[in-house]
Amino acid sequence: MKRVLIFISFFVFLKAYFAVELRCYECNSSGCDYTSACAEGEVCLTIFSKVGNTVKVADKICGKKEHCGQSFSQLVRGQKETNFTSCCESHRCIPSEKNAFRNGIMCPFCTKEGSMECTPTNYECMGKANVCYTYTAPGRIIRGCGSKELCGDPMNSFITFEDDGGRTNCTEKSTEDSG
Ligand SMILES: *[C@@H]1O[C@H](CO)[C@@H](O)[C@H](O)[C@H]1NC(C)=O
Ligand SMILES: *[C@@H]1O[C@H](CO)[C@@H](O)[C@H](O)[C@H]1NC(C)=O
Ligand SMILES: *[C@@H]1O[C@H](CO)[C@@H](O)[C@H](O)[C@H]1NC(C)=O
Repeated sequence: MKRVLIFISFFVFLKAYFAVELRCYECNSSGCDYTSACAEGEVCLTIFSKVGNTVKVADKICGKKEHCGQSFSQLVRGQKETNFTSCCESHRCIPSEKNAFRNGIMCPFCTKEGSMECTPTNYECMGKANVCYTYTAPGRIIRGCGSKELCGDPMNSFITFEDDGGRTNCTEKSTEDSG
């Protein structure tokens, strides 16, 4: 018994000794070329923003694993804008843009201020986005597509947009539904 305990303590010690914190690139107003130490359990997370065929880095952070691989699209000034997350888990790693693929799922899109109704146009979803959402707040409506996390526990979604007291209503879709 004692030997087992010594053995276990040795491994606990080893683990504590070698558990180096993960460092990730982060962005501030002067760029994205400094690194910072993440909290335990966090990973390197990049938020990409895609408009047309252009993909740009919107932000780099130490993020939650649950927020990896999500996607969210809405119309911004009449153009479909998709933000998606991508992660990696090693020192100073650079997440790839792999989640930018079109996935065949179509959702109605429209954005309108000063009204609770808007006339949608169908657009294709990206990455793992498989729900069509309708967000309504007093005097505001947004329709588009997102990952299913958008409609579940807000803690698990990289985007939350109910701060202004609105409601999100989601319809899950599969590629077959879109024909
Ligand atoms: C951005 O972060 C770097 C590294 O911490 C720091 O040297 C620089 O002053 C920061 N820039 C701004 C505008 O906060
Ligand atoms: C994407 O992220 C940028 C930067 O955080 C933000 O300004 C923009 O509104 C986001 N777009 C969408 C569609 O969420
Ligand atoms: C959710 O949105 C859809 C599409 O706009 C609508 O048909 C449905 O009635 C809404 N459901 C709820 C509970 O608001």
